[in-house]
Amino acid sequence: MATLKFLCFLILQLFLVANCEGVEVGFYNETCPNVEIILKETTKHYISIAPTLAAPLLRMHFHDCFVRGCDGSVLLNSTKGNKTEKDEIPNQSLRGFQVIDATKSALEKECPGIVSCSDILALTARDAVSMINGPTWPVPLGRRDGIVLILLEASKNLPTPFDNFTTLKTTFGALGLNVKDLVVLSALLTNTQTKDYVLSQLYLHGSTFFKDFGESMVKMRQIGVLTGKAGEIRKHRAFRN
Ligand code: HEM
Repeated sequence: MATLKFLCFLILQLFLVANCEGVEVGFYNETCPNVEIILKETTKHYISIAPTLAAPLLRMHFHDCFVRGCDGSVLLNSTKGNKTEKDEIPNQSLRGFQVIDATKSALEKECPGIVSCSDILALTARDAVSMINGPTWPVPLGRRDGIVLILLEASKNLPTPFDNFTTLKTTFGALGLNVKDLVVLSALLTNTQTKDYVLSQLYLHGSTFFKDFGESMVKMRQIGVLTGKAGEIRKHRAFRN
């Protein structure tokens, strides 16, 4: 009896670990099995032409996660009378929306209404960075797209270059990220030339940076995800359904 109870406990724990984020590896296995292949092909097409797009795509994912969680809200275009976070100052220099658009339309052809824009952004950031020989990290799927937009949230929630370390610690801490996450994730915040140099040096010297970066990305991509019946699966990257 005790053994049976222990087994039940163990199974329950495994179940909780597998579902603790509400997202899972293989989420689209039945509904859109080629999602990762299609996304990789499209991303590769763009990154092979313009490798410098990898950095802004990673930044886009970070800006998405820090405002209402990783819900794809950064992707929404402003409409008449409704300004979205995409047009707020910290987001005005974001680039790479065409990559998300291309993947979204390829996936809508393959399996309409199934794959969320927030999942597409999380996967694209990961694949683009790994395509330029950067770190990689697992991305379980099943995020849904946000429908709540509050003007000026990006300006309020995203860190600015004028924030001191204490403010940055508070901003990251409020989202469940610690000082190590802050340091590691911000390490790519240099100009492109230095970034390439830093990445190659880290690679050559077997630093634990790639591992640390991947671990912090795993924490970041979990922030405030919408699952189940929350939010929606957007038909178009730029507009709510
Ligand atoms: C710690 C607080 C942070 C601040 C204050 C900050 C601020 C900035 C600023 C001002 C830029 C230049 C934008 C421009 O070209 O106009 C930038 C670029 C960038 N940021 Fe951050 N950032 C922070 C954290 C992060 C994190 C956590 C990530 C990734 C997970 C990240 C990824 C990047 C990347 C990849 C670029 C280069 C983008 C490009 O080349 O277009 N940043 N950041």
